[in-house]
Formats: sequence, C-alpha cells, structure tokens
Amino acid sequence: MRVAVLRERRAAETRVAATPETVKKLIGMGCTVAVEAGAGLSSGIPDAQYAEAGAEVAADPAAALAGAGIVLAVRAPEAAEQALIPRGAILIGTLQADKDAASAYASAGIDACAMELAPRITRAQSMDVLSSQANLAGYRAVVEAAGAFDKAFPMLMTAAGTISAANVFVMGAGVAGLQAIATARRLGGRVSATDVRPAAKEEIKSLGASFVGYEDEESKAAQTAGGYAKQLSANFYAEQAKVVAAHIAKQDIVICTALVQGRKAPTLVTEAMVASMKPGSVIVDIAADAGGNVAVTQPGQETLTANGVKVLGFTNWPGRIPAAASALYARNLLTFLTTFWDKEAKKPAMPAEDDIVKGVTLTRGGAVVHPSLA
Ligand code: NAI
Repeated sequence: MRVAVLRERRAAETRVAATPETVKKLIGMGCTVAVEAGAGLSSGIPDAQYAEAGAEVAADPAAALAGAGIVLAVRAPEAAEQALIPRGAILIGTLQADKDAASAYASAGIDACAMELAPRITRAQSMDVLSSQANLAGYRAVVEAAGAFDKAFPMLMTAAGTISAANVFVMGAGVAGLQAIATARRLGGRVSATDVRPAAKEEIKSLGASFVGYEDEESKAAQTAGGYAKQLSANFYAEQAKVVAAHIAKQDIVICTALVQGRKAPTLVTEAMVASMKPGSVIVDIAADAGGNVAVTQPGQETLTANGVKVLGFTNWPGRIPAAASALYARNLLTFLTTFWDKEAKKPAMPAEDDIVKGVTLTRGGAVVHPSLA
C-alpha cells in the first residue's frame, strides 16, 4: 500500500499531514510512503528527514500520487492535484466538503474521509483533529495576545513600582477556550471566561478562572447530544450581551473562541463593546475562520480600531504553530489508520457500520454516502 503526502497548496497552509515519526510507523505497518518535496518545510521538516525515515521524496504531485492507495492531506487537495489521485484511493484530511466537492470525489472514484466529522466520543479522542488543532490554537492565541499587548500579563512588583496583572476574558470554553484559560493563567493573567453550555461553567472554574455569563432555562439545554453548543434565541443572545458588555469594558485581553457547529460564529463582541475598551487592549478572534465573534474582525488581518484596540483576526490559528500542529495532526491520521488496519493484508479495513468510519466517510465506491451530503 503506497501512501502519498502532498505539499499543501491552499493559501497560508503551513502544516503537513505526516511527519518523519508517522512515516516510520506507516512503513512499519507495511506501507511505502512518498512525500512531495518541500511538504514539511513550513513545519520545519526538511525533505532529508523524511528520506531518513524511509520515505521516497517525490519531485511533484504526479510522482507522489502515482500508484497511491492512501493520500494524507491537511486540507482538500486543489483540483489539479485531485485529478492525479488514482481511482480507488482513500483520501484522508480535513476536507470541509460541500455537496459538489463530495460528488466530485465520488465521480473520481476517491474514497474521501473528512476527519473533522469524527464523532466526539472517547474512542475517537486520539484521532480527533478538531481537538488537537483547537488546543494549539487556544495556546497560540494567548501567546500572540501577550506579544501584541504593550503591558504585562502577570502582576510585577519591582523596586520601580508595581505593574498590575492583565484582565483576560475568554469567550467560549470548548477545547480552544479551555487551553486559552490555562495558558493565560500560566502567564499570570487574571482570567475570567464565559460559555453557554452548562458543563463549561464547572470546567472554567476548575482551571482557576471565574465564570461570567448569563444563564436561564434555555441555556440549561444549550448543548447538543454531540457536545456542541446549540444556536440559541435572539433573546438569549441579547441578555448574554448585557452581562458581557459591562465585563468587557474592564478587560485588557479578550480571546474569542465561540462556535456553533455548522453555522456562522455568533457575534458576541459588538462595535460598542470594542469602543468601550481601553487603548492598548487586545482582542484575538480565533473564530475568524467561521466569520468571527467580533463585529469589527477582518478575517486574516490584524487591525487597530479608532480607540486603539488591536484586533487579531488571523485565520488558521493552528497553522501559526505549524511544527506542533503538524506533529499532532499527523498522529491523529496515523491513529485513524492503525485503528482501521488489517495487519495481515497490510491495508485499511473500514467497517461501514463503525461509528467513526460512518462519521468521517463522505464517499465510498464511487457514491456519496455521508448522510449530510447524500
Ligand atoms: P466548538 O469549537 O464548537 O465551540 C467552542 C465553544 O464555544 C464551545 O464550548 C461552545 O459551547 C461555545 N459557544 C458557542 N456559542 C457561545 C456563546 N454564544 N457564548 C459563549 N460561548 C459559546 O467546541 P469544541 O471546542 O469543539 O467542543 C465541543 C464539545 O465537544 C465540548 O463539549 C467538548 O468538551 C466536547 N469534546 C468531547 C470530546 C470527546 O469526548 N472525545 C473531544 C473534544 C471535545
């Protein structure tokens, strides 16, 4: 079984879907591995390290994909590369496919697995690409906020006087938000956080942050069976905004991570809230990829508002910490493969009725099979 790993071509993608460590393991499972030249460079992995691990370094996508049975990717390959994937190959990545993309995989005979759709169940945790990447995004967001902040996170008592601790408010306490809370606490910030899911309140407190938020009968049922936040009523969001507005005016740093699966991110920080903040404050909008939690976010940009607030609206936050993100992502994909691997035949064995397989499989045998796309 030949595994191909391409250089990512989508804008600003710095990650890679395999590392020398996972290449060695794939070879141990009986695969041969071809890595396109330059695939790991922006994650700090030169071609020579892949070659040392036993991979063939292929000059271009055509050479890497020739005869491949498995293609590992961070994001969906672009049309030119997709056209080179052999019929019958399994493509594994964060494919973010719509109906058209899924039909294109089906007609190309590609068995596409979209790892971002894996169920959030215990058995799938070690292959959960959303968690591994969100965790790093949460960490990186706080580190970049600290870099952009003109003051200090911890209280500093010096002979020349005292600098007070930064007030840090984390909005959304899922995987990214909880890591942001932990990181901001480690840096010495005075941390508070909000979420709509009742379970998040205890998690916020267990990390030593204070909970600030609005709760009512509606928010008691704010979590879906899959663990995600539900879209709530306009009335709830209005009440939440009242509580949050007074708090935001006193913050130095706001880290926004709130998402509602399958929808545009909720706008939680209005223009008026931004205008209420002190000059020099920093807002990081990790949700920028999904439209942003902040009314003034310009996705992909760092902006400075008229009242001197820096808004970091960068997209692809895991890609801003690429070596660590690639290492974890590559292990997620490796775990997916080893979980569904026939050791005798040395090839994937993906039972269609398995919950994880069912969750991620978009197309199989030339047909679109995912319920959300069929
Ligand atoms: P996410 O990325 O979809 O959303 C981030 C956070 O934003 C969530 O905590 C959500 O409740 C919050 N949010 C949404 N609307 C909001 C609003 N108006 N105000 C404030 N916060 C708002 O969530 P993520 O990080 O993917 O986690 C989703 C769930 O999955 C969590 O319950 C998490 O604990 C669970 N999970 C379970 C795993 C497992 O058991 N294998 C693995 C990873 C996550």
